[in-house]
Amino acid sequence: MSNKYLKVTNLKKSFGGLKAVDVHSLNLNTNELTSIIGPNGAGKTTFFDLISGFQDSDEGKVYLNDKNITRSQPYSIARLGMIRTFQLTKVFDRMTVLENMMFSASTVNNDSFIRSLIRLPSQKTTEKNIKEKSFEIMKDLNIDHMANSYARELSGGQKKLLELGRSIINDPDILLLDEPLAGVNPKLAEEILQIILNLSEKGISILMVEHNIEAVMKISQRVIVLAEGMVIADDTPESVRSDEKVIEAYLGSENE
Ligand SMILES: Nc1ncnc2c1ncn2[C@@H]1O[C@H](COP(=O)(O)OP(=O)(O)OP(=O)(O)O)[C@@H](O)[C@H]1O
Ligand SMILES: [Mg+2]
Repeated sequence: MSNKYLKVTNLKKSFGGLKAVDVHSLNLNTNELTSIIGPNGAGKTTFFDLISGFQDSDEGKVYLNDKNITRSQPYSIARLGMIRTFQLTKVFDRMTVLENMMFSASTVNNDSFIRSLIRLPSQKTTEKNIKEKSFEIMKDLNIDHMANSYARELSGGQKKLLELGRSIINDPDILLLDEPLAGVNPKLAEEILQIILNLSEKGISILMVEHNIEAVMKISQRVIVLAEGMVIADDTPESVRSDEKVIEAYLGSENE
């Protein structure tokens, strides 16, 4: 079995004349915590969109565990075990925290949400299991006391936690996290970082986009730097930190 879960070749996406993503080759290793950093507009979120099926690439190939997923839809990629979170959380404001959790479980599981609404007898046990699991996860994330609150009542940081909870309820093998610490206070950021580390230690392969460089350097085994859609560095945190191309990319973007 290959120890690379993701293989990307020649992946390109342009918007008008702008090359948002232009990644020649990138392989990600199983059980590794890898981060992607880069200035605003470097193409990080677009890269996530391309590998998770939320946007079609113009060119290139994406393989997940040796299966070609280049034109696959997000739900089928999720069923293959790769789940992503969003920079701007996609929690449902008009559902409670618990409903958000349970909805995610039912959409990725084979049991359709519609069937769960009809409540076949066999469905009741599934629903009970999902509910128990939801509470377990909410407890781990410290949002269980908000279970019956509407998601819109959560703070920005709690929404991030809920989004994380929704992403782990289906036991993913791979998690793509788009700025899990953005807009979160330092104390909660520390907690979320610990949760991510725990998930990694449980054997989940993690690819994280994050602007909090200190956090990235602290927990990542490998750091990939994107600038203008291209990989300009791919190494250990220590090496990336002192890479002149990287420093230049960040300074250049600050001067704009
Ligand atoms: N749907 C779109 N239409 C046009 N341009 C887009 C679209 N989506 C992204 N872009 C552009 O593509 C480039 C890459 O955007 P992307 O959101 O991937 O960057 P990013 O690295 O995630 O940035 P940030 O750190 O600010 O989240 C940017 O210049 C952005 O303006
Ligand atoms: Mg982004």
